[in-house]
Amino acid sequence: HSIESTYEKIGGDRTVRRIVEAFYPRVQQHPLLKPLFPEDLEPVKEKQYRFLTQFLGGPPLYTSIHGHPMLRARHLRFPITPQRAQAWLQCMAEALDEVGVTGEARDEMWNRLVIAAHHMVNTPDEAG
Ligand code: HEM
Repeated sequence: HSIESTYEKIGGDRTVRRIVEAFYPRVQQHPLLKPLFPEDLEPVKEKQYRFLTQFLGGPPLYTSIHGHPMLRARHLRFPITPQRAQAWLQCMAEALDEVGVTGEARDEMWNRLVIAAHHMVNTPDEAG
């Protein structure tokens, strides 16, 4: 049999949806993140749902519609400071707690999200 992906370990599609639903209300309430996001978060939620699905080893839902993620490039128009990366990760940690993502799958996912968040930084704190 095959090795289970992180996507499968956390419970697949339903769990990814729940993470996205738990994450964005926190982003919307965070003073450092809120100003970067549009009022209507539905399109962003859909993209993030698609991205996280493939990031975690599920079907390539993001690439099939939007092409190569190139996430750092797609974030360049926003001033992403180290503090904002920390804030993003804080909101994500709270979302994962709320949904109940635990254990080995949580650790696998978390380690990759930390790397991805730091990779997105493009502006020093004092300039953000
Ligand atoms: C889009 C902020 C990290 C995945 C966005 C947008 C903002 C943003 C402002 C655009 C919203 C819009 O469409 O108007 C941030 C900040 C981060 C961060 C402040 C802090 C480090 C991440 C990470 C991931 C991610 C770590 C993935 C693991 C995405 C995706 C999109 C997006 C998939 C949609 C891209 C598209 O197709 O347009 N982010 N982000 N972001 N972000 Fe982030």
